[in-house]
Amino acid sequence: MVLLLPHVLSALAFTALSPLLEEVSAKHLDRNHIQSLRNKAAEKLSKNRLAVVPGGDVIDVKVNAGVKNITFSNPAASAFYVDGATIPDVDWDIGPSWAGLLPISGNANETRELFFWFFPPGPTGANDSLILWTNGGPGCSSLEGMLQEHGPFSWGWGQYKPTVNEHSWTNLSSILYIEHPVGTGYSQGIPNVQDEEDVATQFVGFLQQFLEVFAELKGKKTYLTGESYAGMYVPYIADYIYKKKVPLDLSLQGIWIGDPILGWDVVQEEIPVVDFVHKYEHVFAFNQTFMKYLDEQNKKCNYAGYLDKHLKYPPKGPLPLPGQSVEADPDCDLWTEVYEAALILNPAFNVYRIFDQYPLVWDVLGFPEATESPIYFDRQDVKKAIHAPLNQTWVECANIDVFPNGDASLPPAFTVLPGVIEQSVRSVIMHGLGDYVLIAEGARLVLQNMTWGGKQGFQKAPAPDSFIVEDMGAMGTVQIERKLGYFEVVLSGHMLPQFVPKAAFQSMQWLFGIRQNP
Ligand SMILES: *[C@@H]1O[C@H](CO)[C@@H](O)[C@H](O)[C@H]1NC(C)=O
Ligand SMILES: *[C@@H]1O[C@H](CO)[C@@H](O)[C@H](O)[C@H]1NC(C)=O
Ligand SMILES: *[C@@H]1O[C@H](CO)[C@@H](O)[C@H](O)[C@H]1NC(C)=O
Ligand SMILES: *[C@@H]1O[C@H](CO)[C@@H](O)[C@H](O)[C@H]1NC(C)=O
Ligand SMILES: *[C@@H]1O[C@H](CO)[C@@H](O)[C@H](O)[C@H]1NC(C)=O
Ligand SMILES: *[C@@H]1O[C@H](CO)[C@@H](O)[C@H](O)[C@H]1NC(C)=O
Ligand SMILES: *[C@@H]1O[C@H](CO)[C@@H](O)[C@H](O)[C@H]1NC(C)=O
Repeated sequence: MVLLLPHVLSALAFTALSPLLEEVSAKHLDRNHIQSLRNKAAEKLSKNRLAVVPGGDVIDVKVNAGVKNITFSNPAASAFYVDGATIPDVDWDIGPSWAGLLPISGNANETRELFFWFFPPGPTGANDSLILWTNGGPGCSSLEGMLQEHGPFSWGWGQYKPTVNEHSWTNLSSILYIEHPVGTGYSQGIPNVQDEEDVATQFVGFLQQFLEVFAELKGKKTYLTGESYAGMYVPYIADYIYKKKVPLDLSLQGIWIGDPILGWDVVQEEIPVVDFVHKYEHVFAFNQTFMKYLDEQNKKCNYAGYLDKHLKYPPKGPLPLPGQSVEADPDCDLWTEVYEAALILNPAFNVYRIFDQYPLVWDVLGFPEATESPIYFDRQDVKKAIHAPLNQTWVECANIDVFPNGDASLPPAFTVLPGVIEQSVRSVIMHGLGDYVLIAEGARLVLQNMTWGGKQGFQKAPAPDSFIVEDMGAMGTVQIERKLGYFEVVLSGHMLPQFVPKAAFQSMQWLFGIRQNP
């Protein structure tokens, strides 16, 4: 039984008589209205305008009608051919592609193999280039990037079925997804990499074998791309290629790394974390007592004011560590404390995108969320379709450490990254502003402490609203100096091509030089 209290009744009566009535009812949104507004907005988001806008920025987009089916003359290639009409659950023909296992060296006794999936360029993709993609982890499969970030078909979080990906990077180029190092995905062999030199040796050793079979790809302009822990892989592999440690018939042009590990954990996670909580204080919604506690700890740990003092354009000199540790001093792991507190109020809190809430959407790859149906790449029919080992259990991120004794390499900002930027035509570092795993201001600090092209850091701060995404408008900032473009994107979590596909695609067009202004 519902009782209407007298003051409610009088309020209703007032509303009924009020001249405001029309305005009030005008805000009543029926289903069709909501959906049509959404659809109209979504059209802009999903449309991939590759064509040249008169007077616009995009130049030199060719249509390669001829690349629909690259043919490879080595008969060995046909064993890897994937019939695009037979990909399970994909109910259109995605066109030809090639997938399978190849060894990491030409030694007759080699038992270690990496899994790959190669896609030729789509109609607008350049035929003289090759994108290499690697996910991070360490131990996470690059097939995640294929299925949920920039492959020609997507099966994203919560999607019932796969859909065409209008922002497929095959619209730019051919692309090769590689599961590595050994221990990742379908790869074969005992994991044994000790450092990034070992990672590069496996990766490039595999590429040599790949190019023997797919020799038509030799000499292509190559772009090495990846995200997260691939912030370690990509610069070290690029350095290995530039130093010509072994012969490799590819012409490396540049790198793209999204939300990458570049420097110390204390810089990319701890120093900026309380500022990040303040910036998003209505998302975290912490109580005042806890906020006060965080502010106090922030001071004690020497993180407070660090950004104000040290994030300068141009930088004033080398950046100091806030304490003794490159991870976190005792009682100064505020990142973990914030994470735990965030989960109390929002058990669905997602480190990969802070805006997520219940209900958690299912994920056909089973990571980060669980899935109730078989994981896509662990299905027998999927494995058959792509020549994957049928007896191997596939998980998106390995349950074992693919570096059995840890990764002995230093973060790349202190070693190879400056040289890689200098030797590349262009390089992109991109960061989502809603990522909690790694925090954008931390990446900024790492870059302001790094010297490349003869100067330390960026000389000018990224200007507000400087990153304009086609059809969408300002979606963050970009600063380009000495061949390095640093992009930050609003509303994006950790996996940029998944969360902001248009923005990521556009940054790739800049990397390729087919867009003058990013
Ligand atoms: C694209 O490249 C492949 C391999 O290099 C070549 O076989 C093919 O003829 C090229 N197609 C076009 C349209 O240039
Ligand atoms: C594409 O090429 C493969 C061999 O490389 C061949 O088996 C297949 O039939 C071709 N598909 C089309 C549509 O021409
Ligand atoms: C495998 O072969 C390579 C050269 O072909 C040799 O250097 C290496 O020792 C061999 N390894 C084993 C385990 O037999
Ligand atoms: C981009 O790639 C997708 C997937 O291959 C394709 O369906 C779409 O037509 C392409 N878009 C453009 C504008 O070429
Ligand atoms: C800045 O770079 C130097 C090496 O060039 C390094 O020793 C120092 O730890 C870095 N500072 C930070 C805060 O990462
Ligand atoms: C305030 O937040 C902290 C951290 O989540 C929690 O431990 C504490 O119980 C909260 N206090 C109140 C009154 O909710
Ligand atoms: C799968 O089968 C291959 C070939 O029969 C074998 O070499 C490999 O060890 C098997 N892998 C697993 C995980 O059982």
